[in-house]
Amino acid sequence: MTIQSACSAPVVGSQPPAQLALSQLRLAGSARTTVPPNPFSLVDLQARRVEYLRVSVTDRCNYRCSYCMPAEGASVVPRLDLLNFDEITTLVRLFVDLGIRKVRITGGEPLVRRDIVRLVGQIAAIPGVQDLSMTTNGHLLADLAKPLRQAGLQRLNVSIDTLDAQRFAIVTRQGSLAAVLRGLQAADAAGFTHTKLNAVVLRGLNDDELVALADFASDRGYILRFIEYMPIGVDNFWGPETFLPIAQVREQLATAWQLTAQDDHGLPGGGPARYWTAVRRDNPARTLRLGLIAAVSEKFCQLCNRVRLSPTGTLRECLSTAGSLSLRDLLRGGQSGTVVRNAIAAALLGKVDGHRFDQAQPTLESMSAIGG
Ligand code: 5AD
Ligand code: SF4
Repeated sequence: MTIQSACSAPVVGSQPPAQLALSQLRLAGSARTTVPPNPFSLVDLQARRVEYLRVSVTDRCNYRCSYCMPAEGASVVPRLDLLNFDEITTLVRLFVDLGIRKVRITGGEPLVRRDIVRLVGQIAAIPGVQDLSMTTNGHLLADLAKPLRQAGLQRLNVSIDTLDAQRFAIVTRQGSLAAVLRGLQAADAAGFTHTKLNAVVLRGLNDDELVALADFASDRGYILRFIEYMPIGVDNFWGPETFLPIAQVREQLATAWQLTAQDDHGLPGGGPARYWTAVRRDNPARTLRLGLIAAVSEKFCQLCNRVRLSPTGTLRECLSTAGSLSLRDLLRGGQSGTVVRNAIAAALLGKVDGHRFDQAQPTLESMSAIGG
């Protein structure tokens, strides 16, 4: 596996951070002109403009994916410790004041949070939330797709690692491929478009199914993303026997699909996936939009534009670090919006330049508690 060195973010010297960050941002962002300057932008010390918030609304999940959590499930926090809907909405509003434009609802499994449709409606109604999406395992979508759409949810990412029902049941432990497929159909019927399928790639799980997954996504008009396994959660999956670098995924796919890199490949603010247009070699009428996420082997931390809010209201500046600022405690302590906003902005200055997964920095907290 090729592991790139730590990201190329500049080292901060004695200049005042905000000024330095802004001047670098202009350089870094010169190729991308879509985001208007916002005086309240969250910009970190690496000049990364943060405009994407992932809100994990629960650490509970109705699946027990074997690479994510142990068979008995991960420990979950007491319900009273979870942010309530008003707290979540208040915090999203404050993040929007700071320049956040995209919000993704995650879990655990977000659809197991009671009344999730009402929460989606509350977030969708916040002026300034331009893009509202959700990452789900799809198990409960058959019933919820339509109400979610009506509540204002714009896009869905659905996790589907294998198309083999038996394998699916084994890897998710208590999941059902049939339920997820019904959920996807319901999402289509409800009017969701640009739905993304997420497949974590693991040797021995789905490395023989990559072309089949691509065929499936292409036939149904979904965007397909292959995600390199990260050393997060259950650590016994981490190792050369299971880790499949994205370069090998690309190679395998290329046997059946001709891949062309898309123009916005890896630009600042573009998110972690590198997108490709795929055309079936034996039938050029079949096409697919393909995203490859090489979090470990082709680290993209210098492009990171996101922060995370944990189910208990902790600001998590990076997937790989625990985060220490409890926004819940500030809210419950009666702090004003200004104080909370300032605390968020200050904490963002401490966003690490990148993960250290390549230097054996595993995160034993399950992905279900982080939200991916
Ligand atoms: N590495 C990469 N992806 C993971 N996911 C869960 N655990 C890991 C991991 N260790 C994926 C899920 C889902 C998304 C939220 O994160 O399969 O698609
Ligand atoms: Fe699987 Fe996602 Fe649930 Fe983890 S949180 S067990 S990856 S469905």
